[in-house]
Amino acid sequence: MKKKIVFSGIQPSGKLTIGNYIGVIKQWVKMQNKYNCIFSIADLHSITTYKNNFDLNNNILDTLSLYLACGINPNKSIIFIQSHIYEHTQLSWILNCYTNYGELNRMIQFKKKIINNSKNINTGILFYPILMASDILLYNTSYVPVGLDQKQHIELCRNIANKFNNIYGNTFNIPKPCILKNGNRIMSLQETNKKMSKSDKNLNNIIYLLEKKKDVFKKIKLIKTDSKKKYKIKYNNNLGLLNILNILSGLTGKKINKFKNHFNNKIYSDFKNEASNIITIFLEKIQENYYNIRKKKSFLKDILNYGKIKAKKIAKKNLFKIIKKVGLKFKI
Ligand code: TRP
Repeated sequence: MKKKIVFSGIQPSGKLTIGNYIGVIKQWVKMQNKYNCIFSIADLHSITTYKNNFDLNNNILDTLSLYLACGINPNKSIIFIQSHIYEHTQLSWILNCYTNYGELNRMIQFKKKIINNSKNINTGILFYPILMASDILLYNTSYVPVGLDQKQHIELCRNIANKFNNIYGNTFNIPKPCILKNGNRIMSLQETNKKMSKSDKNLNNIIYLLEKKKDVFKKIKLIKTDSKKKYKIKYNNNLGLLNILNILSGLTGKKINKFKNHFNNKIYSDFKNEASNIITIFLEKIQENYYNIRKKKSFLKDILNYGKIKAKKIAKKNLFKIIKKVGLKFKI
């Protein structure tokens, strides 16, 4: 039997965080062994809100290097730059015509983004989920591993695919989102009521995959505890500390209770130091890989070129079928 297809992507607009790793990239790495995986670097999505497009080329290579450093294997998976495959934008236009305005207008991310980008409310932000649906549907995807924030976009994608299939007969696979329960609970370090986000302006809320050791220690130290640092640890409802336990569990794959037992009877400062240490040891491995890979520009370009050729082949064939179905087949 043919392996099912997994598709996902990340925008190259910021540095990746441990939240991205635990919630999304870790899933990708695992799925490579069981499925045909296609991972995109979604540069077309990033220009909807991007502030300084001059850095885009470097950001793409940074993102690719991080994918590889985390364990994405270019011999197993297709990795490509979204804008290299014109079929995505072409399908996106077609799918625009099968999506209701109201469906787009009620997307939670759209509503948030127009608040955060009030000086640049371009229609790219509105049509963003349709381009995402095109990414997914163009490859006959079965599974889409993403963070919880993308769930609504995948639901829209499924609606569009169903609508199209109802009109033209079975054309698209209806993709399923893969969203980790625990991995999605990585919250901001200091403001634990919101998710850790790579675009947060308060850098003390984030640990980047490329974070320096001393900054990891500094940021963890800043987390508020109810009692003085010499007191024995009590989690109670301290979401900052519980978040750290989640992070440790997400990075190491060990159960939260294991860490709780380990820290039993220890004092706050020990907890913070040990936690920082565990996080740093994990990051150092990725960082060593990353800095090695990031230097090899021609190696990175070869991967993107190879990915482009492979993705293009699938995309071209599938788009051709879709174009015929909607009646765009005038021959000269
Ligand atoms: N919108 C996704 C994000 O910001 C990135 C993305 C683009 C994506 N195309 C996709 C994710 C297709 C999954 C499938 O994280």
